[in-house]
Amino acid sequence: MTEVPQHVTIIMDGNGRWARKQGKQRLFGHKEGVESVRACLEFAVEKGIRYLSVFAFSEENWNRPEEEVSGLMALMFKSVLNEEKTFMRNNVRFRVIGDVSRLKPDLLRVIRGLEERTAANTGTTLIVMLSYSGKWDITQAAQRYAQDALAAQREAREPAPLTEENFATYLSTAGIPDPDLMIRTSGEQRISNYMLWQCAYTEFYYTDVLWPDFRKNEFARALEAFSTRDRRYGKIK
Ligand code: FPP
Repeated sequence: MTEVPQHVTIIMDGNGRWARKQGKQRLFGHKEGVESVRACLEFAVEKGIRYLSVFAFSEENWNRPEEEVSGLMALMFKSVLNEEKTFMRNNVRFRVIGDVSRLKPDLLRVIRGLEERTAANTGTTLIVMLSYSGKWDITQAAQRYAQDALAAQREAREPAPLTEENFATYLSTAGIPDPDLMIRTSGEQRISNYMLWQCAYTEFYYTDVLWPDFRKNEFARALEAFSTRDRRYGKIK
């Protein structure tokens, strides 16, 4: 019996290279990448994976050419509008995490609307990490903790102690279990400022497959590899 991870996170990489190999524009690869997100979500639902998070756009990605950034944002907008049926049919809850203050108001509005309409769904939660970076997350958590500590001081209250557990409640992923498995496609073997705090004990799985080609069979292979890992969390078994 293969052990099913509770939270799988994916760094979806290689869309541009995939498109180039077909002699197409980069956005064509991103569009095909959305099909992979849907296939992986359906597989996660089938397997009973509670959380599937996907790194759709990093803070660093804002520095890509304007044409690519606006193309990706338009794709995100369209996907949010199109995928509601899939989410409802599969009892999927949809969430977006990241520095959403940088998003255009109309995109943020459709995201928040879909989050609300799927909030009562009890199956898999799909988390799209958008305008996200690990250092941003830790920094915003530290800022908010400091604000709360200062407010406590002003009101002559004892600030909450800065424990790991308490600090984690300030992260953008508060309430979501840390990923058990992180998958990165396209042969790159690095974390790229992703969930730096949350991946402390995550198992990493790297594959040369480019994201648009990563579908159910590839996901199944990653889960198979995960099931053979011996997770000791620094202890001796
Ligand atoms: C990395 O490939 C991929 C991205 C930066 C974007 C990923 C976004 C999607 C697949 C769209 C997701 C949409 C939803 C609705 C979740 P790359 O462009 O870095 O490829 P390269 O390394 O080959 O250049």
